[in-house]
Amino acid sequence: MKNLFAERVLRNDTSDLNEIFKNSRNPENISFAGGFPDKQLFPTQALKAAYARAIDQAGPAIFQYASTQGLLSLRQKIADRMATHAGVQATAANVMLTQGGQQAIDLVAKLFLNRSDAMVVEGPTYMGALAAFDTYEPTYYEVPVDKHGMDTDRLRTTLAAHPEIKLIYTVPDFHNPTGTTMSAKRRQTLVALANQYNVMILEDSPYRDLRYSGKAVPAIKHYDTEGRVIFISSFSKILSPALRTGWIVAATPVMDALVGLKSAIDVQSPNVTLAAIDQYLATNDIDAHIATINQQYRVKRDAMLRALDRYFPSTVNYTRPAGGFFIWVTLPAGIDAQALLRDVVLPQAHVAYVPASCQFASRQVKNGFRLNYTSLSTADITSGVQRLGRILQTQLAVAPQPKLSFQF
Ligand SMILES: Cc1ncc(COP(=O)(O)O)c(C=O)c1O
Repeated sequence: MKNLFAERVLRNDTSDLNEIFKNSRNPENISFAGGFPDKQLFPTQALKAAYARAIDQAGPAIFQYASTQGLLSLRQKIADRMATHAGVQATAANVMLTQGGQQAIDLVAKLFLNRSDAMVVEGPTYMGALAAFDTYEPTYYEVPVDKHGMDTDRLRTTLAAHPEIKLIYTVPDFHNPTGTTMSAKRRQTLVALANQYNVMILEDSPYRDLRYSGKAVPAIKHYDTEGRVIFISSFSKILSPALRTGWIVAATPVMDALVGLKSAIDVQSPNVTLAAIDQYLATNDIDAHIATINQQYRVKRDAMLRALDRYFPSTVNYTRPAGGFFIWVTLPAGIDAQALLRDVVLPQAHVAYVPASCQFASRQVKNGFRLNYTSLSTADITSGVQRLGRILQTQLAVAPQPKLSFQF
């Protein structure tokens, strides 16, 4: 039956990886592969109370069809928060609620990408975004990320060489998968380049509030002068991913078009959940909640960095993120992290990570992997990294050294 599937579905087959991950779901394995929050940190009782209050207050109307753009009072709260937490002035009319950041990415891709249209993605980038973009069959141009975020010099030469580029996708805050944050200077350069080359920017920032040290940088949208930046974020990492609630902030013409597209896809996000989140925000201090989870995640990040410092060989590099969910590991050139995972790391160390290749649009870079620390206990983080380090010590002693590589 697969021969009847649309070509776009078959384009980037990740069945190899799916097979590896299926095999990794064994209780003796320690998986650093997911991008999950710690479930102990979900405000379960407060959310339960918020759902009950939302239903009590609205009565039967809460179960009726409602607006595609989403509950006005929640959009207003998000608009207010955008001003205080991201330096973005927005009205509720410029905010739409979506089913997670993932739907927001899909909607923006659907709005801008015809088949073969040119777009820029970071290398590496969030693999779920690649999966969403792949459906629209764009032509990708990859711009590397370093410790200050997307390399805007490389972006400039890419835009000059390919004036047909329409869209730039970036994760500027605690980047998935490298954990790095784009500097304020590069954010300004990025907007200036988008203006110069008539390009839209999709700023995807679900980790923005999860800062464990240092000072926040204004959103890219803060520097937007021509309505070119579409900002998206989500409650998944700061409240719960099961709420499936994210949001888009965009200029009016873009917002109008996105509302039309969402209406054709799912009519609206579930109104009961939107009303419950609105209630939660009205009666709880979400910043206090975020401060609590940041404290916990900071301890986990520190545990992972300490273990990496102690157990990984000196030929391996890794990032030291100031927040977010992930650390990126760069292996010496020539090491294929996916083959290593399948053949040695999973069967011998019983540890899983996300190998580099599926996180690059080109699928060409193989010598790296992403580690998540938020979903594990500090004991599992330490022993998983120790097991992985032991394997790397022996494997890297015998590894070949060809060319194609990625390094911070
Ligand atoms: C960078 C990035 N964008 C978007 C998402 C989508 O998250 P959600 O749909 O749960 O909001 C994720 C999830 O891991 C992510 O890492």
